[in-house]
Amino acid sequence: MMKAVEVRGTQASPEVTLNPAVPKPSPKKAEILVKVHAAAVTRDELTWEELWRRPLRIPGHDISGEIAALGPDYQGDLRVGDEVYSMIHAFRGLGQAEYVIVESSEVARKPRLLNHAQASAMPIPLLTAWEAIFERAQVQKGWKVLVTGANGAVGVILVQMASRLAGAEVVAVSSPQHHETLKQLGASQVVDYNTPNWEDTIKDVDVVIDTVGDPILTKTWKTVKSHGHIITVGPPPAAWEYGKGRPDELDEFPNVKWLFFIVVPKSEILEKAAQLIDNGTIKPIAIELFSPDKASQAHKSASIRNRKGKVVIEFVPEKN
Ligand SMILES: NC(=O)c1ccc[n+]([C@@H]2O[C@H](COP(=O)([O-])OP(=O)(O)OC[C@H]3O[C@@H](n4cnc5c(N)ncnc54)[C@H](OP(=O)(O)O)[C@@H]3O)[C@@H](O)[C@H]2O)c1
Repeated sequence: MMKAVEVRGTQASPEVTLNPAVPKPSPKKAEILVKVHAAAVTRDELTWEELWRRPLRIPGHDISGEIAALGPDYQGDLRVGDEVYSMIHAFRGLGQAEYVIVESSEVARKPRLLNHAQASAMPIPLLTAWEAIFERAQVQKGWKVLVTGANGAVGVILVQMASRLAGAEVVAVSSPQHHETLKQLGASQVVDYNTPNWEDTIKDVDVVIDTVGDPILTKTWKTVKSHGHIITVGPPPAAWEYGKGRPDELDEFPNVKWLFFIVVPKSEILEKAAQLIDNGTIKPIAIELFSPDKASQAHKSASIRNRKGKVVIEFVPEKN
């Protein structure tokens, strides 16, 4: 048996507890069993539909730990004892537990420079930023990219990847206390979302990458050039859900392309990103640590604005 965070109650009123006796999984076919050292909590993850479709609701998609066992059909190059980090697919989760099963397409060796707690905060932000910049928007050198929620977990990686890897001019929207850090991470322009009509001061944006949703998302339409893109991963307004209508703003800005997407795990991107972290190109995300018996507080903290960092539940405390 193992300890796992469990969500009870209802979707409207979730209750987070620590279940001390959940059956420990064992890897079948080509599955990989990871002993979880740390699991991060993503803002809003308790609202994700997929969690509520599962009979045993263990949340958690971002983890770091060591390989405990390999399924009988596993043929990759990972070995028992290897230190890995992983994004577990949105449909499965189950990461906030002492052990979890991952697929080989979801896992890579963790960045050597980071401890497990730091590494566990990285997979979803890294994969989301990569997919938005390189696969969805295909950002080109010199493009102007506006990032909302720029000081958030996904935002700080977007700012770094767009400026340092894609060579874009980045406009970062955040509260003012983060402006200096965001400039150091590569932003060319910083904008305070508390300033009335801030959107009127920005023009000719090629791509907006939004991590907030409304009310910020709506304002960004004014900043985009004709035929530019708006890409959002934030909690989407109803009209943006896949296949269910169109944004009202298209009436005024008919040529702007718009997209909401849900990130999928890719081990090859995690591998590449680990190298970018180890060679200093991408700086880690600030974290806030909680022990498993404080899981309820950890989830409450993850939904609070102006946090110190991404919330991480540590199952195996670091030795130092
Ligand atoms: N679709 C996908 O595949 C996908 C992937 C990753 C994340 N997400 C979602 O994307 C969102 C961001 O994730 P995250 O991990 O980056 O969260 P996070 O670390 O909590 O960051 C959230 C950011 O949004 C800003 N923000 C929140 N409300 C705001 C408002 N009303 N006005 C202006 N700024 C506001 C926060 O700024 P302050 O600090 O100033 O409050 C912060 O910068 C979450 O909802 C998450 O579930 C979706």
